[in-house]
Amino acid sequence: MNTDLLVVGSGLFGLTVAERAANELGLKVAVIDRRSHLGGNAYSENDPETGIEVHRYGAHLFHTSNERVWDYVNRFTRFTDYVHRVYTRHRGEVFPMPINLGTINQFFRAAYGPDEARALIREQAGELAGTDPQNLNDKGIQLIGRPLYEAFIKHYTAKQWQTDPSELPAEIISRLPVRYTYDNRYFNDTHEGLPVDGYTAWLERMADHPNIELHLDTDFFDESQPYSKSGTVGRIPVVYTGPVDRYFDYAEGPLSWRTLDFEREVLPTGDFQGTSVMNYPDEDVPFTRIHEFRHFHPEREYPRDRTVIMREFSRFAGNGDEPYYPVNTAADRERLLQYRTLAKQERNVLFGGRLGTYKYLDMHMAIGSAISMFDNRLQPFLAGSAPLE
Ligand code: FAD
Ligand code: NA
Repeated sequence: MNTDLLVVGSGLFGLTVAERAANELGLKVAVIDRRSHLGGNAYSENDPETGIEVHRYGAHLFHTSNERVWDYVNRFTRFTDYVHRVYTRHRGEVFPMPINLGTINQFFRAAYGPDEARALIREQAGELAGTDPQNLNDKGIQLIGRPLYEAFIKHYTAKQWQTDPSELPAEIISRLPVRYTYDNRYFNDTHEGLPVDGYTAWLERMADHPNIELHLDTDFFDESQPYSKSGTVGRIPVVYTGPVDRYFDYAEGPLSWRTLDFEREVLPTGDFQGTSVMNYPDEDVPFTRIHEFRHFHPEREYPRDRTVIMREFSRFAGNGDEPYYPVNTAADRERLLQYRTLAKQERNVLFGGRLGTYKYLDMHMAIGSAISMFDNRLQPFLAGSAPLE
């Protein structure tokens, strides 16, 4: 096998490691992915009917305050000046999110200044002051008061978890941001934008190197292909970005995830909702939000008589579902510690990315941690000066 390094998974973590190893060290890198496309969950495709770019695994907004990551990603793509904002539709009315002075004044039909609004929320949150909230419902009330919590958070959270918040652990939320200004910019990072010619063009450029060989439709656990676990581990170094529990055959039990279902539809209008993301926080609507993809790229020429929307539904992942967000129960955290020990003992295999570490990672975090893994662990090993563990 004429390969110096195997990378399992072509998401942003795997692609970053592969690109670094090929470009910095001139290594021959094989990247495998069990899906039929590269890019992991950041992958996007143009809707065949309208040409509108659709993020297949949910809306992806790039943002970072990490200058090193920003410089790195700009080698592969330029970014638009898109600024993300989210709105929420509650009882037939649309409010700005995250909860800010505009939301508060609209909700209470008032014209409070920041200090008055702060005092009001403090008073409403005082309902459960001094108590130790035992579930998410009480925690939410204690953080922002019952009226805002029940309107914008309670049922939304219930739909996300398919569980009544009074039966969810309080620690799922540590804070609920309330802004006492009219600023409804969603992210606070220094840099924000969308790749000018789309996510897939960006991701393909990362893999575009004579030393990088990409094998799609190739599962690491399929023994019939040459880059399988038994065919590679112990022979060549492996960076594994698939689910850590799967690698060890669920020896310590499965880690639990939430998954999402997406319902895509082309509608015969040039504009369905006037913005890219609308939350639906009420209990009588089964989905949590609607994405309208044309609004991510107002600078593009898209059809004026059709639009693509995607409704998002959330639930616990079962066998065979795509794992999206770690549930992170006490049992999960216990298991994760066991898997970390096993991963450390697995010689010449490094575990990374959101599935390999069981952590929600934004794109900039996945890229940043891949760069660190390359610099601190892979490069010293591949240069012959350190073991790989
Ligand atoms: P992934 O992208 O999941 O890539 C892992 C790859 O490994 C996959 O392609 C998978 O097919 C492959 N793989 C797994 N098992 C095997 C196997 N056995 N054999 C071969 N290949 C295998 N980040 C942001 O910065 N902004 C956002 O707005 C944003 N929105 C998101 C919305 C959703 C719904 C989700 C789920 C994530 C979002 N993210 C967002 C996070 C972003 O998707 C991750 O940062 C990124 O996917 C992490 O890359 P990764 O390489 O770690 O994992
Ligand atoms: Na290891």
